[in-house]
Amino acid sequence: MIYLDHAATSWPKLPEVLQAMTGFLERAGGNPGRSGHRLSIDAGRIVYETRELLAQLLGAPDPLRVVLTPNVTYALNIAMLGLLNPVTDRVVTTGIEHNSVMRPLRALEAQGLELVVVPCGPDGQLDMEAMQEALLPGARLVVASHASNVMGTLLPVGEIAELAHAVGALLLVDAAQTAGVIPIDAPALGIDLLAFTGHKGLLGPPGTGGLIIAPELDPSVIRPILSGGTGSRSEEERQPEMLPDRLEFGTGNGPGVAGLGAGVQHLLDYGVDAVRAHECALTQRMLDGLGKIPSVTMYGPLDVERRTATVSLRIEGHSVSEVGWRLDEDFGVLSRVGLHCAPAAHRTLGTFPEGTVRLAAGLSNTEADIDVAIGAIREIASA
Ligand SMILES: Cc1ncc(COP(=O)(O)O)c(C=O)c1O
Repeated sequence: MIYLDHAATSWPKLPEVLQAMTGFLERAGGNPGRSGHRLSIDAGRIVYETRELLAQLLGAPDPLRVVLTPNVTYALNIAMLGLLNPVTDRVVTTGIEHNSVMRPLRALEAQGLELVVVPCGPDGQLDMEAMQEALLPGARLVVASHASNVMGTLLPVGEIAELAHAVGALLLVDAAQTAGVIPIDAPALGIDLLAFTGHKGLLGPPGTGGLIIAPELDPSVIRPILSGGTGSRSEEERQPEMLPDRLEFGTGNGPGVAGLGAGVQHLLDYGVDAVRAHECALTQRMLDGLGKIPSVTMYGPLDVERRTATVSLRIEGHSVSEVGWRLDEDFGVLSRVGLHCAPAAHRTLGTFPEGTVRLAAGLSNTEADIDVAIGAIREIASA
């Protein structure tokens, strides 16, 4: 079996990730921050260490500004719903966003938010002139993916940050597709809020993710969208002011956070630069091989420096569901087909409503895997 669905979730999980998860339950099963006994203290230490590792990997100067959430969807909602006033605010976003960005924004738009969606070109590249025009003074927030989950296109988040800051807007980046696979230094890029998920490039388990809040951003501007127990300031019936407690509600996913810490430690040891080099080599091989099959249309930039390893394609004369089914049944190649939770991106590409076949290589794949996938697509295309 060849797993090429790393854009959905990375697999297989590393042995050290599994060990960290079972180890948490077996040896540190207390509730972090709630009790004073050794099991609670051990659990709290593991959670704090994961914050430190994430801060190191993503360039956050303060581990307490790493808010842990169940996934990037929660992180994005905490940031957008907490920050925005739908009656007064204007938000700018892009034409390739995932529903984790678009659905909360459309819901806020229905309450009065002014929403501007800046178009992207046919390969997903953002129209920076249109972005500049959309960023009139008064915009409150720009929300942008770091990379598309449909065709891998990278957006220039550093340049977007400059444009946003020039008019006093904040930048929220959805790094679901890039954290762990592209080096990210959030302060250097000028990212005010960095939302990430733990189960993709960060190599952790499902049910993990987070939001990194820049040191310059006053956390009191983000209203907590939920409230409840934190283990801190128990005498108060209001949500604590300080981070991360202000934006973490109830008992977290201790085993998941322990597994995420092990995944991030692996990335720090291996090096995100090395991950990127590996994935660029696999992507180049995939693009070269698929490019030789006449009935295949590929989407996204052909320059691997401008994209991730996520490759979307269609084969003339074959529905995407047939291709996905045959890849799995006949060749053991696991892909994803359809709209990938990002209808806006497909409208941009012109692949709405059928969608695409998505082949997304990751750290665990080899050149031989890519060759099998190319051979399988060639054979399906020739039938
Ligand atoms: C760009 C992007 N944003 C958001 C998400 C949502 O991720 P999660 O389901 O982990 O919240 C995904 C993953 O599918 C994604 O690729």
